Amino acid sequence: MARNVTAYNYSAQSFALANNSDNFNHPSAPPPNIMVFPPPPVDTIDWNNVGFKVREVNGHVSSTYSMSTGQWTKPQFVQDPFLRIHGMAPALNYGQQCYEGLKALRNPDDKSIHIFRPDANAKRMQHSARYVAMPEVPEELFLEAVHLAVAKNAEFVPPHASGASMYIRPLLLGSSAQLGLNPPEEYTFLVYVLPVGVYHGVHTVDCLVLENFDRAAPEGTGSAKVGGNYAPVLIHSEAARKEGYGITLHLDSKTRTCIDEFSTSGFLAIKYGKTADEKTKLVVADSKSVIKSVTSNSVQQIAKDMGWDVEVRSIAFEECAEFDEVMAAGTAAALVPIKSITRKSTDTKIQYKYGDENPEGVMTLLNTLKGIQAGRLEDKHGWRQHVAAPKPEDAADEPTNGVDAVNAL
Ligand SMILES: Cc1ncc(COP(=O)(O)O)c(C=O)c1O
Repeated sequence: MARNVTAYNYSAQSFALANNSDNFNHPSAPPPNIMVFPPPPVDTIDWNNVGFKVREVNGHVSSTYSMSTGQWTKPQFVQDPFLRIHGMAPALNYGQQCYEGLKALRNPDDKSIHIFRPDANAKRMQHSARYVAMPEVPEELFLEAVHLAVAKNAEFVPPHASGASMYIRPLLLGSSAQLGLNPPEEYTFLVYVLPVGVYHGVHTVDCLVLENFDRAAPEGTGSAKVGGNYAPVLIHSEAARKEGYGITLHLDSKTRTCIDEFSTSGFLAIKYGKTADEKTKLVVADSKSVIKSVTSNSVQQIAKDMGWDVEVRSIAFEECAEFDEVMAAGTAAALVPIKSITRKSTDTKIQYKYGDENPEGVMTLLNTLKGIQAGRLEDKHGWRQHVAAPKPEDAADEPTNGVDAVNAL
């Protein structure tokens, strides 16, 4: 059990933040002598060139779970970005970990911050944890930790006009020392944040189908956001990048006939209605081996709201030639239009045309998604959660992970 930490029974906690969707009505000016939250963005970062790299912020949030007590500790704010973790932790040796990715943004007046659909990421992290024998982080604890991490780093949430955002990285680890291949005594849940610009940008990218490598076995862990699904892709995605392909695509491992997903994002395509009474159609690749993308799910809802047909189903690779537009969907880059798909073994190169590099369907979906995310458009589906000021008792604490569990062995 970690030092100086109160055990929390999260199921018994009432949690006010979860339903606190941003209604966009900012309160009138605060009374004098009350610290205004959120603080303005720091002036040490060039907000128009944020890029996609690790930048140090005020700190992260940490909570630990003990198998013997069955309790999570109250999330604590920790300044040190480094972890004190035993080298024998299963996260380091056996890949017992999973992670998430989501975003916080400033509203157009820069005076409030919200997080986009954290409840969806909380549920997906529970799904991932089950695949690698880790305790599920209760949704209310996940939300509390994510809100706290953003609130304590609010000055690193970029200004609205920059188009940049704060990336939130929740991470769950098997963290106490363990030699045998059994679940360890202690798990650590962390939430890191950092400001980011756009990942791929809004330019179209060429895609290569990966044919000498299977990302996920048919009954494997493909739907879990575990690190073991990502590191093995690197050698292939880097080789593709050197050949000029900005993104790589996985087909289903068993038959290599259907689309699974891109290495870092979901696969969506658009078919224009060709006659007056034929609707535009959004076709989304479905497979049990893919990450259930929150971005894709949001875009599906946006397409429905616009009166498009939406089909979520298996997509045969051959069908790619029939699509008018193809896009990759993920938190980091939102939607990336795909310029071409190359499959070397069959000498196939499918090209997509976007008017003046300005894809019609993708851009409509992207502008709407970004508008909702950034608070410029109405949040019809309650996707934005308002971030409240941290409480005085949430001041920085000592790091707590791992050490006591090792001492207790
Ligand atoms: C393999 C993979 N597919 C899809 C996604 C997109 O998921 P989301 O839209 O929730 O970021 C991601 C990114 O998290 C991913 O890593």
